[in-house]
Amino acid sequence: MRQPALTSTASFQALASHAVNAKTWQMRQLFAANPQRFPELTVDAAGLFLDYSKNRLDATTVGLLLDLARERGVERQRDAMLGGEKINLTEHRAVLHTALRMPRGKALIVDGQDVNADVHAVLDHIKDFTDRVRNGQWLGYTGKPIKDVVNVGIGGSDLGPKMAVLALRSYAHPRLKMHFVSNVDGHDMDAALAQVNPETTLFIIASKTFTTAETMLNAGTARTWFLQNGGTQDNLARHFVAVSTNTKAVADFGIDTANMFPFWDWVGGRYSVWSAIGLSVALAVGFGYFSDFLAGAHAMDEHFREAPLEQNMPVLLAMVGFWNRQFLDASSLSIAPYHQDLNRFPAYLQQLDMESNGKRITRGGAAVDTPTCPVVWGECGTNAQHAYFQLLHQGTDVTPIDFIAALRATHDLAGHHDALLANCFAQSEAFMTGKTADEVRADLAGAQLSAEEIEALVPHKTFPGNRPSNTILMDQLTPAALGALIALYEHKTFVQGVIWDVNSFDQWGVELGKVLAKNIQSELTGEVKPERHDSSTNGLIMMAKAAQHI
Ligand code: F6P
Repeated sequence: MRQPALTSTASFQALASHAVNAKTWQMRQLFAANPQRFPELTVDAAGLFLDYSKNRLDATTVGLLLDLARERGVERQRDAMLGGEKINLTEHRAVLHTALRMPRGKALIVDGQDVNADVHAVLDHIKDFTDRVRNGQWLGYTGKPIKDVVNVGIGGSDLGPKMAVLALRSYAHPRLKMHFVSNVDGHDMDAALAQVNPETTLFIIASKTFTTAETMLNAGTARTWFLQNGGTQDNLARHFVAVSTNTKAVADFGIDTANMFPFWDWVGGRYSVWSAIGLSVALAVGFGYFSDFLAGAHAMDEHFREAPLEQNMPVLLAMVGFWNRQFLDASSLSIAPYHQDLNRFPAYLQQLDMESNGKRITRGGAAVDTPTCPVVWGECGTNAQHAYFQLLHQGTDVTPIDFIAALRATHDLAGHHDALLANCFAQSEAFMTGKTADEVRADLAGAQLSAEEIEALVPHKTFPGNRPSNTILMDQLTPAALGALIALYEHKTFVQGVIWDVNSFDQWGVELGKVLAKNIQSELTGEVKPERHDSSTNGLIMMAKAAQHI
C-alpha cells in the first residue's frame, strides 16, 4: 500500500507540535519532577533490559511516537514480514531471517515450501559437521584434526560471524582458532595464511551469491595456497566448505556440494548470521550454544510479535531513535558496548542499520521528506572515553549513545567488572546531568585561583548535559543474550524503515562502485587505456600504473 508522505500524517504533525516545547526540556528537571521516571521508561524483554529514561521525552512523547508507529502500520508490516510476505519489493523477496531461529516443527509455508523443515535440515547438517570437526573426527589430508578455521566472506558474510565469535569467546573450543578474511586487500589474506598450516586448516567460503568479487578473489587465493603447500585437488574437500545460495557456482569453484551449507534468497546478507553463514560461530562454540543463540533471538522475535507497543522493546528503541533523529537533529548514533567481547558490535550494527535504512527514496519511489538513518559508529567503553567522549560531552553536535553492558562478567578477575559498570553508569549520568557554571565555580572555590582565573576556566569546565542515551543491560553475555541483542537491533531497524517508508532489505547503493571498480581494474592491469574518466581519476590510475611499472 502506498504510504502518504511522513510529514503529512496527523500523528507526525502532532509530534512536531509537541516537539516545539519538548526539545527544550531539561532531563534533570524531568527526573526531579517525576520519581517514577525510571520504572515508567524502562522495559524488559527476552533477558534484556532497556532504560530509555535518559532521553528528552516523557510519557506523552512516547504515546505520540506510538501513535505514529500505528499510523505508519508497524504492526501490520511486522506481521507481513513474519508471515513471509514479499516485503522486499525491489527484489520481490520475502524477508524471513526470523524463520531461521524458529524451533523445529513451527509450521511456516512460503510459496508452497515448508521453510521450517528446510531450515532444520540445514541445522542438522551443521550439527553433524561441527560435531565432527570439534571432536576431532574430521581430519585434514595428513590425518590430523582441524586447528584453524578461516572464514572467507565480506559484509554480512563476515561481520555477523566475526562479531559473534568474538562476543562468545568465553564459550569457544580450545583447539579451534578462528580467522576472518574479508578485504580484497591481500594483506588481509596474507596475515591469515601466515598463521595457519594447510594440513590442519579448514576454509569456509561464505557468500550468499558466490559472485562477490572480494570473496571470490580471496577464495581463489586460499585454494592456490593450499594446492601449492602440500594439498591436492583430491583432498580439497576436507579443507574447503561453502555457505551459499548458489550451488552451481560452488560446484564450479571445485567445492564438493556435499560440503555446501545452503540458505535462501529470503535471508538478507546483513541478517544472515542465523543461517549457515553462522557456521564459524557453530564451530567455535558448538551446536548447543549456537542453538541457544538462535533461541535468544527467537525469544526477542516472539516479544516483538506479541508485546503491546507500549512495552515492545524494539519498537520503543526505534521510536526513541526516530525522535532523536527527527526532532533533536541527531545525525549520528554512537554505540558504546561496555564489554570488550562486543568489540565488533558497532561495526556489525553499521551494516545492519546503514545498509538497511541509508536510503532517500520511499518504497513507492518518491523522495523521503525527512532525514533517515543516522551514521552509526562506536567503540567499547572505557576505551572510547579516552578517545572521543570529549566531543560527545562538549562538542557542538548532540549525539545519542546506546550503552550496552552485562551485569555479571564471564571472567573471574577481581575488581574489573565494578570498575567497568561504574564507568558505564557514570557516563550516562554525566551526559544527562552535565555540569552547570555554578557547579564548576563551587568546585573551583577551594583551589588556589584568583576570581579572574576561576571565571576564565568556568566556560571550559562547564558541561551542557541534557544529552540523550539508552542503556541496554543483560545479566551476562551468554549466547542467548547475544541472540536477543542482535534481534533487538534488527527489529529496531525494521521499525524505523517502516516509519521512513524505505525498503530496509535492498542495497542498490553498493552497486555503482562495484561496476566502476571492475572497469578500473582492467585499466590498472593494462588491458584498457585509462582515459575515460575525469582528470582526477585518470591521474590516480596513472600514478598507480607508474608505481607498479605497468
Ligand atoms: O555489497 C553488499 C553486499 O551485497 C552485502 O549486502 C552482503 O552482505 C555482502 O555484499 C556480501 O555478499 P555475499 O554474501 O553475496 O558475498
